[in-house]
Amino acid sequence: MLKVGLVGYRGMVGSVLVNRMIEEDDFSKITPYFFSTSNHGGTSPINGYPVYDANDIDIMSKLDCIITTQGSEYTNAILPKLEQINYGGYFIDASSALRMRDDAVIILDPVNKLQIIESLQSGIRYFAGGNCSITLSLIGLSSLFKENLIEWMSMMTYQAASGAGAKHVRELLCQMDIISAQNGGLINDQTTPILKLIEMVNNTITSKKFPINHFHAPLAGNIIPWIDADLNNGSSKEEWKGEVEANKILGLSPGTVKIDGFNIRVSALRSHSMAITMKLTQNMQSKEVEDILVKNEWINYVPNNKECTIRYLTPVATYNSLKIAIGRLKKSSVGDSIFHVFAIGDQLLWGASEPLRRMLNLLIDWKKGVIQ
Ligand code: HSE
Repeated sequence: MLKVGLVGYRGMVGSVLVNRMIEEDDFSKITPYFFSTSNHGGTSPINGYPVYDANDIDIMSKLDCIITTQGSEYTNAILPKLEQINYGGYFIDASSALRMRDDAVIILDPVNKLQIIESLQSGIRYFAGGNCSITLSLIGLSSLFKENLIEWMSMMTYQAASGAGAKHVRELLCQMDIISAQNGGLINDQTTPILKLIEMVNNTITSKKFPINHFHAPLAGNIIPWIDADLNNGSSKEEWKGEVEANKILGLSPGTVKIDGFNIRVSALRSHSMAITMKLTQNMQSKEVEDILVKNEWINYVPNNKECTIRYLTPVATYNSLKIAIGRLKKSSVGDSIFHVFAIGDQLLWGASEPLRRMLNLLIDWKKGVIQ
């Protein structure tokens, strides 16, 4: 059995990963080695296995595969050390650290399984999960991509607090709690004039004591139209990732499918939403596009009407689901071959942990010769 290290298993993405691995009985196929940066010697999620120090290069170097959900900083620190001692195993990373390296593949097997298998055959050992909003969109629209039907996409995202991290989710909930604690009496008093109520809540949100240590701006009662670093060219790093990662995942030369837009943080908890305007490579009718979209086991197609949309096409409706909800499909009045579509998926599943455990399974099968 492969010896597989799991680093960062106590974090938000790591916990979802371990839960999914338990659900899918993945632990029966490997010998797990749990690693922690802060809890070595502690209790592991699977009885009987110790927790090692995530900086113990000696133990790590003996493993066939290391899966990390610990973040880019950790990968950037540990991988050079492993490389220095010629670590020959596989490194599967949830972070963005390795994604654009030539010796790494961005893993999203419903879209690029062939690329993954070919890369295993050619000796690639580094595999990175992709950016969540792009992986969710690519899976959702994969049947259109398979038929080379998308020329470009404008992608406006509405990203959940979970994408920023566990501390951010807690900060959002804390902001909501404070709004309620400070204004609950007025909110519940039906005679409070609504403009007065809005003013009071706004005062709470903008007060100096409002907790914004992690988001650096209020998120409750607000949106933040910037995610990740400022590239100082009018775009955020998150927006840049969209196009470069999508083309890499699709196995296309950089810039083949143009993708741009804004990434916006909203107060959803763990599902990212994407409002996509796409130019198709040929003129089609909505029904034809729908017929292609639904040839995809990973989506829930939501008919474009109000009742279905508000029931099934929301972050709440996609919570903890492996299906990407796709809806609001309509031919645009803006021009020929242009369509609007809305996609939503659980950021912690396909957006973060699921590609990692599926990569592990591909690796196991490939090692056994089940896939070639
Ligand atoms: N960067 C994403 C976000 C998370 O901030 O929502 C995962 O790719």
